[in-house]
Amino acid sequence: MTQTLLVLGSANADLVVEVGRRPAGGETVLGGDTVVLPGGKGANTAVAAARVGASVALVGAVGGDGYGALLRESLESSGVDTALVKTSERPTGIAYITVTPDGENSIVVSPGANADVSKSDVDALSFEGASVLTCSLEVPLETVIHAIDAASRAGVRPVLNLSPVAELPAETLRQLNVLIVNEHEAAQLVGSDWRDLLRLGPTSAIVTLGSRGAAVVAQAGVVEVPSIEVDEVVDTTGAGDAFAGALSARLAEGDNILQAAKYAVKVAALSVTKAGAQPSYPTAAQIASLG
Ligand code: RIB
Ligand code: NA
Repeated sequence: MTQTLLVLGSANADLVVEVGRRPAGGETVLGGDTVVLPGGKGANTAVAAARVGASVALVGAVGGDGYGALLRESLESSGVDTALVKTSERPTGIAYITVTPDGENSIVVSPGANADVSKSDVDALSFEGASVLTCSLEVPLETVIHAIDAASRAGVRPVLNLSPVAELPAETLRQLNVLIVNEHEAAQLVGSDWRDLLRLGPTSAIVTLGSRGAAVVAQAGVVEVPSIEVDEVVDTTGAGDAFAGALSARLAEGDNILQAAKYAVKVAALSVTKAGAQPSYPTAAQIASLG
């Protein structure tokens, strides 16, 4: 393995439909045409990191179907190494996403192949040359716990985007270099004092704040990193993954957490100006042109 960044997580086909409102139980509503886009928190994170120049490999699984091919194509054309993306017997994971006129998403994820990402896949990994392993939670929790442990023993810094939120062993939290949560997840974990996130054990934590940017929580205190102004918010799907990917890319390049967060808020901000997750992620050149 020659990649400095490893990402472990899901790859999903995002089936997106616009609806006027969500149906209640037993009700049918008509929506717009279905748009199929490459997504999944792990694949999104890896693509975001690759677009801004990271040398990154995804550890994950897709099915041997058309959606799997769509995911591989998006990953590879962005420069993500897919040698560790296995083809499972199960269908590619699918995220059924409904979007209402206020821009709000609701998502049902059918994990499919993602459920096959296993501890033995982690055991087959070489961490040589890697400096950061970034995980999210649409693959089995036991695999993520095992990967964080293996990375930490190999001297590779574990980063966890705790999305969707789940309960983790105290030891896993202590092994984390960076814990990333959104405001809602932070409230669930520790209430309103974000400094308490460090009491859970990670070296540092980040609370993402949507259009307001992010807060970096370190021993020295909490530093808010404001976002940049963008013209129009088109689609926030995968903005958190864009943040996690860009942050991880910069950490793997040797930035400190504050520098990395300042970069990542720009990547996340540009991502919401275009539709979809992966297709909306900016390149390093686009970020540089912001000045
Ligand atoms: O975080 C956004 C992602 O969540 C989407 O791409 C969808 O696949 C779901 O996993
Ligand atoms: Na987007």
